[in-house]
Amino acid sequence: MSRPAPLPQLPVPTRVVSDPRRAALALADELEALLSRRPEAVLGLATGHTPLLLYRELAERVRTGRVSLARATSFNLDEYVGLAADHPGSFRAFMARALFGEVDLPPERRHFLCGEARDARAECARYEASLSAAGGVDWQVLGIGRNAHIAFNEPGSPSDSRTRRVELCEETRAANRPDFPPDEEVPGEALTMGLGTILEARRLRVMAFGASKAAAVRAALLGPRRDEVPASHLRAHPDVELWLDVDAAMALSPNA
Ligand code: F6R
Repeated sequence: MSRPAPLPQLPVPTRVVSDPRRAALALADELEALLSRRPEAVLGLATGHTPLLLYRELAERVRTGRVSLARATSFNLDEYVGLAADHPGSFRAFMARALFGEVDLPPERRHFLCGEARDARAECARYEASLSAAGGVDWQVLGIGRNAHIAFNEPGSPSDSRTRRVELCEETRAANRPDFPPDEEVPGEALTMGLGTILEARRLRVMAFGASKAAAVRAALLGPRRDEVPASHLRAHPDVELWLDVDAAMALSPNA
């Protein structure tokens, strides 16, 4: 698929598409090329609504034999504290529904933070060690929160933060409310890869769709780089691309 030219004069190559499906196709093409060159690639995966079309496209390419994940490895970004792996709101359950149920990635090479770990600090250290042992992430897909969070690095997260236990903002819990049964609270804490950990991935591919992301996208690209806007730290990465739809890009013009 042809790629739209990046918007001029932004600190990160930023491509705007008329339909999120075009971004999903372009990123699936990039992943397909990576996996054919390097079948044992290490993929960093996000949950949430943003990557769903990409995951659907990837699953379709695996189904039709265009892509294989049989030798790949994955690391998910984050997990709620206190949720069992089979809880429908857990990110492990999300990934089973969104991708892993349909692709040939071996279960032993799908890495998750364990939200039920008794010792969160040890669990986060274990995850960092597994990441290093795997050689780091080759290709990381990311979404952006409405408050510009990246993974569960909420506003105030330093750019050199590592995998750790964090408190979630009320805004984040409210955004994720629909993923939980009505009689259950959204957990208040999570384990998340840190911004410093994420920035070590060799390639970052960030997507944001919809008007609810426009202010966060503007702050990330046009405001100062600061901890209050975690997504602004993505600008420090040497190989990052941002894919937006028209609504998420609407606040980027200088007089918006
Ligand atoms: C997902 C994650 C979050 C989401 C963000 C956007 O693992 O860590 O940072 O990427 O909250 O969520 P959606 O895509 O649902 O708008």
